[in-house]
Amino acid sequence: MAEQIRIISKNFEVPNAETIDVFIERGGYEGLKKALRLTVEEVVEVVKASGLRGRGGAGFPTGVKWSFMPKEPKKPHYLCCNADEGEPGTFKDRKIIETDPHSLIEGIIIGAYAIRSKLAFVYVRGEFGLGYRRLSAALEEARARGFVGQNLDGTGHDIDIILYRGAGAYICGEETALMESLEGKRGYPRPKPPFPAGYGVYGCPTTVNNVETLCTVPHIIKHGADWYRSMGTKASPGTTLFGVSGHVNRPGLYELPLGTPLREIIYEHAGGVPGGRKIKGVIPGGSSTPILTAEMLDTPMDHDGLRTVSSLFGTGAIIVMDETTDIVAVTRRIAEFYHHESCGQCTPCREGSGWIPQILRRIEAGQGRMEDLDLLLSICANMEGRTICPFGDAAAWPIRYNISRFRADFEERIRRGSGLPDPGPVPGVLGGRRADLIPVQVSA
Ligand SMILES: Cc1cc2nc3c(=O)[nH]c(=O)nc-3n(C[C@H](O)[C@H](O)[C@H](O)COP(=O)(O)O)c2cc1C
Repeated sequence: MAEQIRIISKNFEVPNAETIDVFIERGGYEGLKKALRLTVEEVVEVVKASGLRGRGGAGFPTGVKWSFMPKEPKKPHYLCCNADEGEPGTFKDRKIIETDPHSLIEGIIIGAYAIRSKLAFVYVRGEFGLGYRRLSAALEEARARGFVGQNLDGTGHDIDIILYRGAGAYICGEETALMESLEGKRGYPRPKPPFPAGYGVYGCPTTVNNVETLCTVPHIIKHGADWYRSMGTKASPGTTLFGVSGHVNRPGLYELPLGTPLREIIYEHAGGVPGGRKIKGVIPGGSSTPILTAEMLDTPMDHDGLRTVSSLFGTGAIIVMDETTDIVAVTRRIAEFYHHESCGQCTPCREGSGWIPQILRRIEAGQGRMEDLDLLLSICANMEGRTICPFGDAAAWPIRYNISRFRADFEERIRRGSGLPDPGPVPGVLGGRRADLIPVQVSA
């Protein structure tokens, strides 16, 4: 069994770790001091060599992303820290900013230095009241101690950090919607190209990085790329915060090497399933990632491992569902979330994400038809890869995989017919109309 490691989570249980004195006492800001003695190129090289991959969902290598930024700035460069954390099941970034905000500030300063930026933004999820207050207080402390400001540590490097509070829209976690929102506009994703490194916030070169990604950087600078690579797997080095929720005895965050088998995370670290019940399915990386069946529990939890079972690492947010779970209801609930959160810019996503919960609600209410399952799969196929941003895929995958991996459950519900009460309208979804009364129409 892999030991729990305390790198990013080393201050999680420490009283008052959100204050600068405790943070410094525990080795905080040492990575920053070391980074400022290196050249920008050296910092990028160490992070590249470490193999660190972004923890916001896509797993893109951080050092490589930084190296896309122009080497000779003609316009201001910006770093945006993505603290929007909206993917259902994910709660790691909130924990970091609430309990260890200085670790994020330290990571941001190093990240900004690496991309030649003098101004960084933190886009904080609107609902994170405590996190926002802790981060604001920490920023003031860091300013007062000279970690944020001009001529850092006598190096001539300047940095300022601005906190920006979102209004609670999942789509604003998508990097280009985030930038639009930051500019005061509606959070509509931008078509790419141009990519943020060429045209980002206010049309200037920008890098967007996740909270956990940036918090990992000071440790890599302090201990080196080889140290980081000594943990995890070749293609996904290091540790990550696995957030385990659902039917487990000890839900919570577990910092473990990437590649730790899913079974070990659930049974050894999260204490197994209450009442010794069997597992029905596991969502491995946040609600948009394809569900795994109980036969896939030995999958190594890293980017390659999850690909072998046609799923994704996502945010490392594991949602465990035991044998009592109603997969039809789960699928309908997830579908309602994505319908509610679709920005509506692209027709396939706007329309498809609306039709899916309507059909699922009809099935759940016992009024489904067998053809509905293929109809749902066809709607998914018409959403995937046909939208400006990956939201269309994120909304379609859970439906497609829940049906294909648990088709018997859906068929059984349809066969059983009525007999179950209509779950009723969910506020804000379908405008309160009864789904079973809405005719389903699709053009050929
Ligand atoms: C619909 C959608 C929502 C997203 N939400 C988040 C989020 O809340 N936090 C986050 O860090 N990345 C989120 N992402 C990924 C970002 O677009 C981006 O890839 C990430 O912030 C880059 O950081 P990283 O390279 O450190 O992973 C989202 C992507 C999509 C398509």
